[in-house]
Amino acid sequence: MNKIREEFNRPQSQEARKAVKQDANRLTYHLMPPVGWLNDPNGLCQYNGLYHIFYQYTPGNPTGADHRGWGHYTTKDFIHYQEENDPFVPDTEADGKGSYSGSALIDDDGKLHFFYTGNNKLVGDYDYINNGRIHWVVHSESPDGFTFSPKEVLLKNKDYPDSLSCHVRDPKIMKRDGQYYMVLGARTKDSHGQVEVFVSKDLKDWKHISTIRPEKEFGYMWECPDLFELDGKTILMTCPQGVAQDGILYENIYQNGWFEVNGSLDHDQRVSNFKEFDNGFDFYAPQSFQDEKGRRILIGWMGIPDADYTNPTVEANWQHALTLPRQLHFKNDRIYQFPIEEIFNLHGEKMDIDLAADTCLTMPERTVHLNLHPKADCWTITLRKDCTLSYANGLFTMDLKSSGSGRGSRHLAIDKVESLDIFSDTSSLEIFINHGQHALTTRIYDAPEDLSLCTSAPLNGTLWTMNAFEVKENLEKSDPTIV
Ligand code: FRU
Repeated sequence: MNKIREEFNRPQSQEARKAVKQDANRLTYHLMPPVGWLNDPNGLCQYNGLYHIFYQYTPGNPTGADHRGWGHYTTKDFIHYQEENDPFVPDTEADGKGSYSGSALIDDDGKLHFFYTGNNKLVGDYDYINNGRIHWVVHSESPDGFTFSPKEVLLKNKDYPDSLSCHVRDPKIMKRDGQYYMVLGARTKDSHGQVEVFVSKDLKDWKHISTIRPEKEFGYMWECPDLFELDGKTILMTCPQGVAQDGILYENIYQNGWFEVNGSLDHDQRVSNFKEFDNGFDFYAPQSFQDEKGRRILIGWMGIPDADYTNPTVEANWQHALTLPRQLHFKNDRIYQFPIEEIFNLHGEKMDIDLAADTCLTMPERTVHLNLHPKADCWTITLRKDCTLSYANGLFTMDLKSSGSGRGSRHLAIDKVESLDIFSDTSSLEIFINHGQHALTTRIYDAPEDLSLCTSAPLNGTLWTMNAFEVKENLEKSDPTIV
């Protein structure tokens, strides 16, 4: 068996998984890697009723330094999950140094297709930006989401516009007017980030048709583009790299956010007015899909590349997780995002909260959903050990202090905070302001006994404990007889 395929598919000893299972920071209602490293969500779809959640995965190394392939979970209800076999591992000329990010598409005949970036590096003296790197579009069909036709290369670097560097990746497909449009994130030879649009009628034969560029220079590379319709608007989400911080904007090393696209996809166009999607420390490479109920659901990587803050989970042989699935809506000129209704089935005990100014309560556990309504124009809420959320003069601030493992503070401008929904897991927080008008996602590392909730101003609301979801291990990969 190919060495890399073996690394992904061999039964991983219980020993390798043991540290992960025993880690006090392991999450209870967020998907994390069974062992090793996870990054972008990939290939999200619902096929014949079953949800498939793929992700960038390096089982053998929690720092993700080596070959990335695709990991795979399935679920019917977002409460019970099954770990599946890994569909794509780096084992061909096209993807020998990584089966990189990509997406799924169900065609008009109900067939399921996958498209992803094959990443490889030639051996030699190359800069791997303008030369020496393969970024090809690889395709595979699947009758069921579990078995996959052989990898087929649809586009090579020579098929992309001459002005581009080798960095052209992360295919996502949208159907419009009887044609399929594929977007790829790109870096030009002179280091401008943009999105390339390709068109096809049969999903096999693709032709470059246009480029979506920013009105004004906006970073050197755009990763993970996602083009979709949302409540009558056409949205381009993408992750620009190389955008300098501008006051309280763009505080992370790399950005995540969206543009509205108004013109035809058949012509080049310029976009402007980029809006950040999630202002937390740990959010990147989100991907959306439409489910059989017609919901536009998005999952993000609860992590970010190349940050100067860390995750102590590496010591327990794993790193990173996926966000809760969030349903999207367009209103008031923004994309609203809120956990899908299935997540509320995890609610356990309910407790009313009614706190006077300068008082505290002790939460029953760290894994809770808090719905809070501060009753003042200016306030500070301290959560768990030393995470402070504060609001004054139109500025919302999240500050993590020592629980942040290097994470400091993040900000956003907002006129009014009427409600906060905080989904607190053992080592993560997802905070939704005004029912999803804004969101901040972060990892947090404190202790199980850090259960306080304090407020400077009167506050009321509700607390629910959150039950753990269930993830069944893939016994082909985790052999309980190997100790
Ligand atoms: C984003 C990204 C993608 C790439 C993948 C590799 O985090 O860099 O652009 O396909 O990760 O794992």
